[in-house]
Amino acid sequence: MRFFVDTANTEDVKKANDMGIICGVTTNPSLIAKEGRDFSEVIKEIASIVDGPISGEVKATTTDASNMISEGREIAAIHPNMVVKIPMTAEGLKAVKVLNAEGIKTNVTLVFSAAQALLAARAGATYVSPFLGRLDDISMPGIDLIRDIMEIFTQHGIETEIIAASIRNPIHVIDCAKAGADIATVPYGVLAQMIRHPLTDQGIDKFVADYKAVFGE
Ligand code: E4P
Repeated sequence: MRFFVDTANTEDVKKANDMGIICGVTTNPSLIAKEGRDFSEVIKEIASIVDGPISGEVKATTTDASNMISEGREIAAIHPNMVVKIPMTAEGLKAVKVLNAEGIKTNVTLVFSAAQALLAARAGATYVSPFLGRLDDISMPGIDLIRDIMEIFTQHGIETEIIAASIRNPIHVIDCAKAGADIATVPYGVLAQMIRHPLTDQGIDKFVADYKAVFGE
């Protein structure tokens, strides 16, 4: 399983990229709004940091296919690594079909059922993004959705990649890896949690103490 970082914060993108642990970035309208910066300015800055797929979503207020298609073309023109993120609606599927035919990569987002994932794949989506955490939030096990989509895509030889999204903690990450998700898009804070272990910290402290006791500073 590969990692994307799920953020529009360029400092967090840089920190994750510098460690060599991510190979792409996902953003969404809420993450862009949180930064309070111009969409294309943020995306260009991210593209200058990470050499990999960068998902940029059509405007939250765009609901019809023809506007999603024209916005999708504009997003794709920002940088060759751009992936156009499209919400899972009937109009979204129409937009995916057209953009895919033009060679533009798409990421169908807000996927909450295996049926939605299958339709998105058949429309030509490069990626589907099932949202784990938001299902857990309503007491429906999100990991079951990742497993179901994985099983269906494997059984039918579907090449659309699964980006496990709405990841809230390191256990989500490990469950997604075990389920076979192609990619997990993870907030920087969760990546940071994954790095640390109390026994690693204790081990480092002990090595330092033992070294200093014999060799000094
Ligand atoms: C996915 O691409 C979304 O940006 C993201 O994972 C949503 O996560 P949230 O449910 O924590 O907002």
